[in-house]
Amino acid sequence: MPVCDLDKRVPHGKKVLGIDIVVWWDKNESSWKVFDDACPHRLAPLSDGRIDKLGRLQCAYHGWCFNGSGDCKLIPQAPLDGPQVHTFKKACARAYPSVVQHEMVWFWPNTDPEYKDIITKKKPPFIPEMDDPLFSKFWINRDIPYGYVNILKVDREGGKPLDIVVEQLDINGFFGKYLLDSGKFVAPCTYYNYVDPLLASKFDFGYAPPAGTDHKIKKLAEQQRMVFFFFCVPVSPGNSRLIWGFAKNFGSWIDNIIPRWILHIKVNIVVDSDLHLLHIEEQKIMEVGPANWHKACFVPTKSDAFVVGFRRWLNKYSDGQINWGAGKFSSGTLPPAPPRQQLMDRYWSHVVNCRSCSCAYKSLNALEVVLQVVSIVSIGIAAATKQNAISATARTAMVSMAVIGFAASRWLAHFIYKNFHYHDYDHTLH
Ligand code: FES
Repeated sequence: MPVCDLDKRVPHGKKVLGIDIVVWWDKNESSWKVFDDACPHRLAPLSDGRIDKLGRLQCAYHGWCFNGSGDCKLIPQAPLDGPQVHTFKKACARAYPSVVQHEMVWFWPNTDPEYKDIITKKKPPFIPEMDDPLFSKFWINRDIPYGYVNILKVDREGGKPLDIVVEQLDINGFFGKYLLDSGKFVAPCTYYNYVDPLLASKFDFGYAPPAGTDHKIKKLAEQQRMVFFFFCVPVSPGNSRLIWGFAKNFGSWIDNIIPRWILHIKVNIVVDSDLHLLHIEEQKIMEVGPANWHKACFVPTKSDAFVVGFRRWLNKYSDGQINWGAGKFSSGTLPPAPPRQQLMDRYWSHVVNCRSCSCAYKSLNALEVVLQVVSIVSIGIAAATKQNAISATARTAMVSMAVIGFAASRWLAHFIYKNFHYHDYDHTLH
């Protein structure tokens, strides 16, 4: 998860690779910790617990407390003069090696002591622009109702031929080029690409391409750089989490002025536009079996090169499937398709996991209530005041305020529902 969307005051429950984990801020070590989301006592989820006054993770059920290494520091039920049961190994929470890189929490999904220092040897993928203070960054995360295999694709709607070439495919991923863009897939879950300046200008990211020659555009591209990044997290069969955004060294004023939640509304529309299509595509591919993907789909043009490259990589190095943690799920089983409204839900898939959107959601709901109160009070005053106690102009103003307040509250309710709960994307209307 991006750190900007994690609240240090509470533990966060997440699922990754089929493993339930809890992410929490250890103020004693000033670092984010990732534990198995199961208390060693009686398996209550630690994510339902709290951070106690001493900065320890405390289980909400019987109050056992754990430090940042997972050591049990308190068993309230154990007599002080009895055996020191909290020091037993079985009383420890299972801690995963974790690290923050690119303002995001990463963890190694194995608690075996042999991996304790793995983070010092195997670092998460590094994208230089994301650590460069001259680059402004934009983040969004969303839980997506289709699998990581389907999410890790670079597609663009449209009829333009794209000459995409995949190079250097090996166990670590691959590299690809098209036009002035270049993209890199770093196995298993990172993709980033440097953006064609003309494309950036189309998306209105504050990019101002010069009129004229390719030479000028190339020169500008050397100075004004923009990289899109995508981290695709396998959650469980048929579910993934997409964390993505961009870093750029131009037009940063836009990012400083516009709140993140406004940009999220725009970006969520893009996600919704693909959501139903890819959900159905995944189900159909599962019906024929992932290994038969190339037989079920016809991909004759180079514009599909990244998709084909990713499938090749998956088949060659991962047997075409994901090794779900703890062997909980079989890769071939997808959950039943939910109703469309649940499929495109934005509240649980994004708003509750985004600090900017959840804050905006609460504020806009409060504003809606204020508008309703203004409307009711205005009409109440207009009705209760005797005929000649206030002027006709004042009365008209009161009634107008009531009508405007009511209409604005209704409009706001619709806006909140459409942008924070559910917005059915209809391709025939776009
Ligand atoms: S289950 Fe956690 S303290 Fe009992």
